[in-house]
Amino acid sequence: MNNKIFLKALNRDNTESYVPVWFLRQAGRYMPEYRAVRSQYSDFFKMIKNPDVCTELTLQPLNQFPLDAAITFSDILTIPEALGAKIEFVSGRGPIFKESFKTTPMMELDLNSETKLSYVYEATEKIKAKIDVPLIGFCGSPWTIFTYMFYGKSPKDKSEVGNFARNNRAYVHEKLEIISNLTIEYMKNQKKSGADCLQIFDSWGGLIKEDYNEFSLQYVNKLTDAFEKEFPIILYARGMKIKPYINESSAKIFNLNTEDKISEYIDENISIQGNLNPTIFHEDESYLKDLAADIYMKYADKKNYICNLGSGLTPDIDPAKVALFLNELRFLNSK
Ligand code: CP3
Repeated sequence: MNNKIFLKALNRDNTESYVPVWFLRQAGRYMPEYRAVRSQYSDFFKMIKNPDVCTELTLQPLNQFPLDAAITFSDILTIPEALGAKIEFVSGRGPIFKESFKTTPMMELDLNSETKLSYVYEATEKIKAKIDVPLIGFCGSPWTIFTYMFYGKSPKDKSEVGNFARNNRAYVHEKLEIISNLTIEYMKNQKKSGADCLQIFDSWGGLIKEDYNEFSLQYVNKLTDAFEKEFPIILYARGMKIKPYINESSAKIFNLNTEDKISEYIDENISIQGNLNPTIFHEDESYLKDLAADIYMKYADKKNYICNLGSGLTPDIDPAKVALFLNELRFLNSK
């Protein structure tokens, strides 16, 4: 495998003067090649249920940019879909569920849904056969999946799900248990199919800040504890300052938010990834070159740092800017 440095950095063992890099949402709508494939499908799930298409989409950014890792092209909403939710992706509005826990609290869940996810494992195997960089598999945290199943869309009134959870503890924990059990199988099968590490997206962890342990971290730990300690698992708790939870977290690799300060984390006994604001790609060439130089200077000799964003690349970003930054970093890395 080419470039194990990314895996070494996950393991706090990058001893080379090299900053590994990959980007959240490195495949997606900012790339014209992605939009060309996407335009052939009215249904997002139909697209991601085709392992050859997932492979093609995963490879698109790798073919253009010097990246140190691939991430399986899929989505975190594969889990609710397997549980029986009917989900549509409406342009500009995000995912829309036909039924939600809010509208249909007794919504039936398919508890034998594991086999429905085999398209993700097939894609994982196919991607793995085509790449020479490490492959990242992923899933949503149980709390984040519950949040989507509760609202039936991306949250608008952001306090509602937390209030509901605090007033319906038994109900919510029962659902979180079901989601967790399926997600553990999902993660294990991705690993079996070739994923070299896994990232847990707790995209809505920030909505349950006051009860983060009870409703989110507890379940993230359950997922993480299902693996041997050496297997790298990255936690991305969006909108959540994770620092106070580092000791309680079984995952020891953290994708920081744009608001976090790397200096508060870098010397801890953990690895860190992320933190750059995707809006940097609206700056000019000299800004991006200076930024790459600054990152190289600060972190090339750290054992536990991976360059990445604090949130995903957005559709308004020019791929040429992404290329510019990554080429500059690769140039510095190979000096
Ligand atoms: O390279 C990659 O990272 C692509 C793989 C990937 C997708 N989604 C593809 C996708 C990954 C890792 C995800 C994770 C994901 N999905 C998260 C966690 C990351 C985060 O941003 O917090 C979340 C919350 C979702 C749920 C989701 N999927 C939403 C809210 C949407 C709609 C709008 C959007 O893009 O955010 C999706 C659809 C989706 N998933 C698209 C892509 C490329 C766009 C769909 C389209 O083309 O219409």
